Amino acid sequence: MRIDILTLLPELLESPLNYSILKRAKEKGLLEIYIHNIRDYARNKHKQADDYAFGGGAGMVMMIEPIDLCISKLTGERQYDEILYLTPDGERFTQRMANYLVTKKNILMLCGHYKGVDQRVRDHFITREVSIGDYVLSGGEIAALVITDCTGRLIPGVLSDETSALMDSFQDNLLAPPVYTRPANYKGWKVPDILLSGHQLQVDEWRHQQSLERTRKLRPDMLQEGSEKPEEE
Ligand code: ADE
Repeated sequence: MRIDILTLLPELLESPLNYSILKRAKEKGLLEIYIHNIRDYARNKHKQADDYAFGGGAGMVMMIEPIDLCISKLTGERQYDEILYLTPDGERFTQRMANYLVTKKNILMLCGHYKGVDQRVRDHFITREVSIGDYVLSGGEIAALVITDCTGRLIPGVLSDETSALMDSFQDNLLAPPVYTRPANYKGWKVPDILLSGHQLQVDEWRHQQSLERTRKLRPDMLQEGSEKPEEE
């Protein structure tokens, strides 16, 4: 899988993509991430990539030309399955969307900044507008990182134990069950006996019941009909 990220702040993105699971995914050759500085595509003297809004008002708007030049260069080299624009007014990112994105080969993400991007970019280049939640970040970079992290770890072969992604919260529309490790008794706080019993079937059943119970208590909305359907192509 290949992910290209277009940003005005490339430094903000680099470090978080170089640790832990994503680092391993890249080293194994399962995930390629390319970060593009939009400013490098600005043709004016000062490498300006934003300008005042027509009609006035506070805040700068990201200009169409540098974004066009960057996107057109990339789309000339390969076909992208989706071109995402990260914005608080987009469609909400979910585990379901990550499960969909991971089936794709090439994804491009445009990080918004300032007051936003010239509407013509959204109209003519973007296939999908995505928000990671109902709150406003100072830019789309952190949202792009969230989506890259969440999607990248689902690539087959990235997690050492492949079943561990299947066991995640949300993956079967249930929250994950509680987990424990040694010591079995810490200051009198004991691990449930069943987990020490060695009866795998009973352990599995106990975990499933715990998942159901947690979900009912903490996220009853997840048990509603229709919330579990995979995303359509
Ligand atoms: N940019 C600013 N806020 C955002 C959000 N909540 N999701 C995606 N991109 C954003």
